[in-house]
Amino acid sequence: MSEFPTKVLTKGMIRKMDIVNQIEKEVKKYSEEYKNSSDDNYDFWNEHIKYVYKESIDLAKKYNANEEVVRLGALLHDIALICRMGDKKDHHINGKIMAEEMLSKYLYPVDKMNRVLSCIYNHRSSKNGTTLEDLCVADADILAHFDNIPMLFNLAYNRCNINLNEVREWIKAAFEKDYDDLSEKTKEVFKERYAQICKIILGD
Ligand SMILES: [Fe+2]
Ligand SMILES: [Fe+2]
Repeated sequence: MSEFPTKVLTKGMIRKMDIVNQIEKEVKKYSEEYKNSSDDNYDFWNEHIKYVYKESIDLAKKYNANEEVVRLGALLHDIALICRMGDKKDHHINGKIMAEEMLSKYLYPVDKMNRVLSCIYNHRSSKNGTTLEDLCVADADILAHFDNIPMLFNLAYNRCNINLNEVREWIKAAFEKDYDDLSEKTKEVFKERYAQICKIILGD
C-alpha cells in the first residue's frame, strides 16, 4: 500500500474535512493504483466498490442505520484486497487493521470507528453481522453483483471457462447462491427486483 496522509492533521483542519469524502478519494486512488499495476487491469472502484457504496446507502436509509458508519464501512470493506495486504481469505481481518489506521489519521471518534470496523470484519456474511450497519454492508456486497451482471459473464467466460451451453445454468446458480446469502430482511426488500432480473437475464 502506498502512503497514508503523511502530514500531521490538526483538529482544526479535521473539523473542516468531510471524512467520508476523504476516504472515498483515498479508496479511488488505491483502486487506480491497483488497476495500473495488475495484469488484468481490474478496476475495484468501478466494477465493485461504487455499487456496494450505492446499495449500502439505500439499505441504511431503508433500515434507519447510521449512514455515515455504513458509508465508511462500504468504502473500506475490501481495502485489504485493493491494497494487496495479506491473503484474500483474511481480507476482512487485514481490512479492519488498515481501516483503523486510516480513520485514526483523521482522529475519527473511537465509538464510531469501532462500528465501521465491525462492518468490515463482518462483511463476508450477513449471518455474522452483529449490528444493523454490518448487515447493510454485507447485503450491499451481494446486491452489487446484481448491479454489475457484465462482470459475472466475464467471470464465467474468462475466468471459469464456462461455455455458451452451460452459462445460463452457471449464472442461475450464482444468482441463487447470492440471493440465499442475503439477510431475510433484504431478501424481502429485493424479492421483486430479483424476479425481474431473473426474468430478463435467464428468461425464467
Ligand atoms: Fe470482501
Ligand atoms: Fe466486496
